[in-house]
Amino acid sequence: MEHTRLIERVLITEEQLSTRVKQMGEQITKDYLGKQPLFVGILKGAWMFLADLTRYVDLNTEVDFMQVSSYFGGTESVGTITMIKDLTTSCKGKDIVLVEDIVDTGVTLDSLKTLLLERGAHSVKIATALSKSSRRQKNVVIDYIGFEIPDEFVVGYGLDFDEKYRYLRDVCVLKEEACK
Ligand code: IMP
Ligand code: MG
Repeated sequence: MEHTRLIERVLITEEQLSTRVKQMGEQITKDYLGKQPLFVGILKGAWMFLADLTRYVDLNTEVDFMQVSSYFGGTESVGTITMIKDLTTSCKGKDIVLVEDIVDTGVTLDSLKTLLLERGAHSVKIATALSKSSRRQKNVVIDYIGFEIPDEFVVGYGLDFDEKYRYLRDVCVLKEEACK
C-alpha cells in the first residue's frame, strides 16, 4: 500500500497489544480497588492506548487530557516540555494514572508527574504502552509498561512520525530513509 511504503517491519502486532493492554487493565483494576482513578491521557499519542486501557479497567474512572510538546517534528526530543493543553478538571486529591504512548528519555513524564503532585494530586502513577529504557535520562518510575522495545523509532497505535502513521493497528518500525 502506498501510504505504508515507509514501514520497515511490524514490531508488535494488534493481537499482542490487545492481550497485553487487557492484562494491564486487570492489574490496574486490582491495584485501585475501591478508588476512582483519573486517567490523564497525554495527547496526541496516548489516545488509542487510553481508549483501550480504560475499557479494560472495571472501576468508576474519569478521563482528562494534557498535551505537551517535547518533539518538534523530528525523531529527537529537545529535553524540555511546553504545555499546549492543560487539564480541564481539578487534580486535587485525585489518584491519577498518567497514560503515555511511549516513554523515551522520560523528560515528559518526569515533568508532568512533578507538576501534578505539586498541584495536590493524592497519587500519580504512570502507564505506558511502550518503553525504551535504554534511552532514559530521567529516573522516573514507570508503574505499568506494556512492552519494552529496542532503540528504534516506531509508529502506529497512536505514535506518529511527523503526524503520520498514528492510525496503524500494529506498532511498526520506520525505514531509516523515512527519518531523514
Ligand atoms: P520523552 O519525554 O523523551 O520520554 O518522550 C516521550 C514522547 O516522545 C512520546 O510521548 C512520543 O510522543 C515521543 N516519542 C518517543 N519515541 C518515539 C518513537 O519511537 N516514535 C514516536 N514517538 C516517539
Ligand atoms: Mg509524538
